[in-house]
Amino acid sequence: MTDQTPLLVDFNSPVMVGRENEYMAQAIAGGKLSGDGPFTKKCNALLEKELGVPKVLLTTSCTHALEMFAFLLDVQPGDEVIIPSFTFVSTVNAFVLRGARPVFADVRPDTLNLDESRLEALVTSRTKAIVPVHYAGVGCEMDAILEITRRRNVAVVEDNAHGLFGKYKGKYLGTFGALAAQSFHETKNFTCGEGGALLINDPALTERAEIIREKGTNRSRFFRGQVDKYTWVDLGSSYLPSDLLAAFLYAQLEQREKIQAHRRKVWNYYHENLKDWALAHEVHLPYVPSTCEQSYHMFYMLLPTLELRQGFIAHLRRRGIASVFHYLPLHLSDMGVRFGGKPGDCPVTEQVSNQLVRLPFHNALTEDDLAKVVSAVQEFDF
Ligand SMILES: Cc1ncc(COP(=O)(O)O)c(C=O)c1O
Repeated sequence: MTDQTPLLVDFNSPVMVGRENEYMAQAIAGGKLSGDGPFTKKCNALLEKELGVPKVLLTTSCTHALEMFAFLLDVQPGDEVIIPSFTFVSTVNAFVLRGARPVFADVRPDTLNLDESRLEALVTSRTKAIVPVHYAGVGCEMDAILEITRRRNVAVVEDNAHGLFGKYKGKYLGTFGALAAQSFHETKNFTCGEGGALLINDPALTERAEIIREKGTNRSRFFRGQVDKYTWVDLGSSYLPSDLLAAFLYAQLEQREKIQAHRRKVWNYYHENLKDWALAHEVHLPYVPSTCEQSYHMFYMLLPTLELRQGFIAHLRRRGIASVFHYLPLHLSDMGVRFGGKPGDCPVTEQVSNQLVRLPFHNALTEDDLAKVVSAVQEFDF
């Protein structure tokens, strides 16, 4: 058999979980398909209430919410922003677009989150912000990070693309920094295909965020009747999604308990059924500190070497199961090298990037699918 084996279990499969069709039909019938319609407002309000965030604004993607961070922090050419090397390109690109110089930090080998013990050495007088990424929806060590950012007067803004409804010490991820970004891309727990949200925990940033999201105009104030015409008042772009997408997303968010319960079952099934095999083969399963309630975004494993990881992915594929690796070290990417990145700068990132594999994880996985994945994994002997 070759890689042409029909897929039995896909890595991701975005599915409808509730009233998506009905709400999209309502949005169409209501005649309001552009941004900030009734379903966008419902999504914003639901997230504000559930998370206890003063202001939430849906965005066209997490990437765009991150771009809004850079505007809102007034990032200027020459400013430095500390970012884990082990993250998605958008975390860093958003700041580089405004002229910032990325300073890549390494991650902890256990959670793959920012290594808080090495952060302070990276802070300089040019540091504008530190961007924790809660990898796999497991919280970074926020107490230690906030202690540094407060003492050194640096902003903290969270890339919480993976972590909606995860918690650190009982508090929701995305509620620690002045700002946080969520993703509703089709690979996430809750989706509308492409989408995101900006969580604004510092109310002083709200009015400007509305302006930046509305092409640099005070259109939001105009719609609220606070000004009699709207005009160009600041920098900005078009970061608000169609209400049709918000209708789809609202149906998903309504089913949050059902979705999270299913994903918890999937994660626990993998963990329970793979832990003996992992131990026997020196494979590391995800570590969730007791201070964290994870968001059940993904299930990853760290294989001992790159060769074994590649062999493992090929083995699962021959059995009709799709598994994938994740981030390449950003400091060694073409762009990262242009900013001075070199091998050895972030040794943990360089190692885990070669070792990591993600198993199928989505809202339509059945027990039969899970049993197939587990038995294919256990057949991989080395
Ligand atoms: C950590 C992280 N940040 C940001 C993003 C970008 O999200 P989006 O596709 O919604 O722009 C991703 C994408 O998966 C991600 O993993």
